[in-house]
Amino acid sequence: MTAAPLRLGVNVDHIATLRNARGGIVPDPVRAAHMAAGAGAENVTAHLREDRRHITDDDIARLRTEVSLPLNMEMAATPEMRDIARNHRPHAACLVPERRTERTTEGGLDAAGDDGRLAEAVAALTEVGTRVSLFIEPEPRHLEAARAMGAPAVELHTGRFCDTEGDEQAHELARLTTAAARAAELGLECHAGHGLTYATVPPVARIPQIVELNIGHFLVAEGVFMGLDETVRHMRAVMDAARGETTEDKA
Ligand code: PXP
Repeated sequence: MTAAPLRLGVNVDHIATLRNARGGIVPDPVRAAHMAAGAGAENVTAHLREDRRHITDDDIARLRTEVSLPLNMEMAATPEMRDIARNHRPHAACLVPERRTERTTEGGLDAAGDDGRLAEAVAALTEVGTRVSLFIEPEPRHLEAARAMGAPAVELHTGRFCDTEGDEQAHELARLTTAAARAAELGLECHAGHGLTYATVPPVARIPQIVELNIGHFLVAEGVFMGLDETVRHMRAVMDAARGETTEDKA
């Protein structure tokens, strides 16, 4: 059996962070998205935060209409963001926590403890044809909650895996591996992201049920020195090389 292809979503938030440092129009996240498309990315990801600290409403409008890549809009499950997303109808939306009360201790959404707000956002976005994912810790209870509220996809938080070393990191990888298998059993499309670098991407890319990785900060940081085009191409190559080593692929 061959592992499903692995998509790369390039998160352009920190292109906007750099632009906003001077309040002007450069560097332009839309230009970054065009470049990511040319370098082998399959999606562009952007997080419209409540405080608009990087991506703006105008960026979302332009990423939606001027870029050939499908837009994955990261957003909190608030009425404001829901209405903006319903207006733009992005290809995908990833619901993320913005406030302390919305997140688990490790950082993903508290899907299992949802008071109805997440489920409401999933339904409202699904209704306009947007594929919703929930950004969660790799824990069965959050996967089951995502399934119960009708989300078609989840994004597993790789932050702890990326921030740890040795045995602790091996433990985090095992949690991701188990969660990805459970997601597939539940019929959930499985994505992953946060903190990924050339060094941390290979083990995650080898998990056969994960079909999309969303990567931002490292690509922008490395792109400052090597160029964004070269950096996205290299990340794509690292992902593809690791994916070629999946056990399912060899079977
Ligand atoms: N996925 C989600 C849901 C995120 O919130 C972020 C951070 O914006 C990322 C992926 C990308 O993380 P990083 O910028 O660390 O690569």
